[in-house]
Amino acid sequence: MLKRKRKIMLVFGTRPEAIKMCPLVKELKIHPEFHVYVCVTGQHKEMLWQVLNCFQVVPDENLDIMQRSQTLFDITTSVLTGMARVLQREAPDLVLVHGDTSTAYGTALACFYLHIPVGHVEAGLRTDDLEAPFPEEFNRESISLIARIHFAPTPAAAKNLLREGHPPESVFVTGNTSIDALKTTVCKDYQHPILDWAADGRLLLLTAHRRENSGMPFRHIFAAVRRLARDFPEVRVVYPMHMNPSIRALAHEWLDGEPNICLTEPLDVLDFHNFMARAELILTDSGGIQEEAPALGKPVIVLRKVTERPEGVSAGALFLVGTDEKCIYRTAAVLLSDRKVYRKAACAVNPYGSGTACRQIAQALLQGNWDADAGLAERIEEE
Ligand code: UD1
Ligand code: UDP
Repeated sequence: MLKRKRKIMLVFGTRPEAIKMCPLVKELKIHPEFHVYVCVTGQHKEMLWQVLNCFQVVPDENLDIMQRSQTLFDITTSVLTGMARVLQREAPDLVLVHGDTSTAYGTALACFYLHIPVGHVEAGLRTDDLEAPFPEEFNRESISLIARIHFAPTPAAAKNLLREGHPPESVFVTGNTSIDALKTTVCKDYQHPILDWAADGRLLLLTAHRRENSGMPFRHIFAAVRRLARDFPEVRVVYPMHMNPSIRALAHEWLDGEPNICLTEPLDVLDFHNFMARAELILTDSGGIQEEAPALGKPVIVLRKVTERPEGVSAGALFLVGTDEKCIYRTAAVLLSDRKVYRKAACAVNPYGSGTACRQIAQALLQGNWDADAGLAERIEEE
């Protein structure tokens, strides 16, 4: 019997994309209807391989583009030309990209030039401000223009896409695949030397890496954290630093030598998810952590002026404070001191799904006719 097997290529290149796409790789591989091909751009190197190793995903192709202190020009041009080669050679029926990175944008653009359909995972997030986050808002809006099928994590994200005129039948609300990942990573009684160091105190987890926070905003963030550590000596701050050299230099300048602050290398995802599960409070400018923390009942101080994840703010789990030192300090101090305020935030409902996003995406791909009129390379495989 002849059966058409559809070739689905998943492309990602940074740590957060990998955390959210690896569970999808595994889910799609369950279905014999798909030929799954994984291409990593290598926009990140060490931080990407940490995740691939954790989830035991072996890519079929690695463009290996990362350079120390790479610019947006470097990333976008390398992804565009590198992906042109891979796409022409592999002729996938559909390419899945994730979110808003330059890897996702460059790949979607290459697909557009080659008339290859794109599916967008984590679609529809918006701040409607192209400068924040920069360049991610531009990236995701552009990907939406190109994508044929959109997997929105929440009804609000889907609404954004409908407002922009995307056909309702192309938009699926699935939840966020990061919640699927959490289900496989968090476990009871997780052991780690840094958790032992923090065991006699209150764990406060910090991450910070956003491009628009470069310079002054990072100084404010680190100053606020240092003040918190000094005023609340029982707090144990753990900061797994992003590998960006300019952020690391600032972090060392502000936070070295404080006895209750631990600066460390990026944690692998298994460690990090379990650190979150053990933390009392999280301070971050990350996107993904804003989704994961509410699922673990952890309040988050969001170190950004705007967020594309307003659901978590409305639910009461996320406190959008910006990067002003006083605002960060004040909000954290209240959460550390007022149990009633803390409990309310910790009990907020998680708006990002129940951990079935990958299954829902696979079902949509199995049932949808997204490749009906695409003029795609036909692969007839004998069963
Ligand atoms: C990128 C994404 C951002 C995402 C973030 C996740 C873009 C434009 N930005 O930003 O949306 O939130 O990833 O972390 O796509 N580095 C290493 N090893 C690594 C990773 C990074 O050394 O494994 C260093 C390199 O010097 C690199 C720098 O970090 O040049 C910055 O990496 P880059 O991907 O350009 O930017 P991110 O800030 O990580
Ligand atoms: N994370 C990790 N190790 C760390 C810090 C974060 O594995 O040391 C995970 C975190 O759980 C989340 C993702 O990395 O899933 C967030 O990545 P990042 O903040 O770099 O990017 P963003 O989500 O802002 O795009």
